[in-house]
Amino acid sequence: MESAQPVVVAIDGPSGTGKSSTSKAVAAQLGMSYLDTGAQYRAITWWMVHHGIDVADPSAIAAVAGKPEIVSGTDPAEPTILVDGVDVAGPIRTDEVTAKVSAVSAVPEVRARITELQRSLAGSAERGIVVEGRDIGTTVLPDADVKVFLTASAEARAARRSGELQGADVHSTRDALLKRDAADSSRKTSPFVKAGDALEVDTTELTLAQVIECVVMLVEEKRAGK
Ligand code: DC
Repeated sequence: MESAQPVVVAIDGPSGTGKSSTSKAVAAQLGMSYLDTGAQYRAITWWMVHHGIDVADPSAIAAVAGKPEIVSGTDPAEPTILVDGVDVAGPIRTDEVTAKVSAVSAVPEVRARITELQRSLAGSAERGIVVEGRDIGTTVLPDADVKVFLTASAEARAARRSGELQGADVHSTRDALLKRDAADSSRKTSPFVKAGDALEVDTTELTLAQVIECVVMLVEEKRAGK
């Protein structure tokens, strides 16, 4: 049954936990919108690199944080990301952007800008939305109806990521993941931590289908009670 009130779902966790696949599948199955907030931070990082901004200089980043126009398409079947009208879905997944995104996303002016975009998209999603990221349940949407925090062992995460990256070395993938986690968790503004009221799901021993089923159940329960 369709709920009267749209449900807002926050799914946080590090990469390699199945966060994107789960979020997209849940949104598609339940007819909701979907937002990949990591893609937005990657997009602003791509813009900084493209414009020759020194990503080691937070004040240089802060000075231009308001310039790029970032537009996220929220259809889970075909999520899109444009920066100043350019489709950057491919370029934001390069190793260069991945290596620089933690530095750019630690700058408070960047976070304020992107957080505002995220809240506005979530507020206008008429059929509800699944928002995935690192600080959705803690900072962006602290009043989300459902909050899930996905985890998995470093080994499982590295194996999944190197599979996605078509055979990248598991050990270097693991080291890069842990380095990014540490940077994201130790930044001053909106660090990556589990929200106190989020349900933690360890996906190490679960299939993707099991994780999806678990989150769908949580959302359906919430919808029934709304
Ligand atoms: O989910 P991802 O790997 O595409 O995210 C890329 C980076 O973006 C991640 O290392 C930290 C940052 N990020 C963030 O700071 N806050 C979010 N809500 C989502 C991502």
